[in-house]
Amino acid sequence: MPTKSIDKQWVDVLADVPIFQGLSRRHLSRIAGMATLQEVAPHTQIVRAGEPGDAFYVIIDGHAEARQPGHKGVEMGSGDFFGEMALLDGGPRSAIVEAKTQLLALRIGRAPFQTMLEKEGSVAAQMLRTMAERLRAANARVSD
Ligand code: CMP
Repeated sequence: MPTKSIDKQWVDVLADVPIFQGLSRRHLSRIAGMATLQEVAPHTQIVRAGEPGDAFYVIIDGHAEARQPGHKGVEMGSGDFFGEMALLDGGPRSAIVEAKTQLLALRIGRAPFQTMLEKEGSVAAQMLRTMAERLRAANARVSD
């Protein structure tokens, strides 16, 4: 899938993304420098369950769905992120993530993702909050 690097104007876009909330323009600019933009056609699988992970994604525009084979999917839209799990634990991708519409995503590779989490404690904390919410929602679906 084609990617292109992003420039300073993206700092304003990143400032509105929940996981980057509260970061200074200097820090947002550093994150922008770590990322590329990826445009994805509808119905494209961006990550596939079972494969090794090489990047983390933040949806800038459009909708995607994460689903385990045979299970109901979880919808994601602008500002949502995915692809963190395989980078965090080194395991395989836990789900398929498929674009439901034309999608524009920020892509951050494995090494810059590690650097971002080491340098930006608030990003790591927001990621953990979201992962806790997702675990609660998944637990609730299991007990339904
Ligand atoms: P990863 O396992 O790297 O690749 C698939 C991604 O789908 C995963 O990271 C999460 O970002 C996302 N994902 C997996 N399970 C769920 C879930 N239950 N709710 C929301 N997102 C999920």
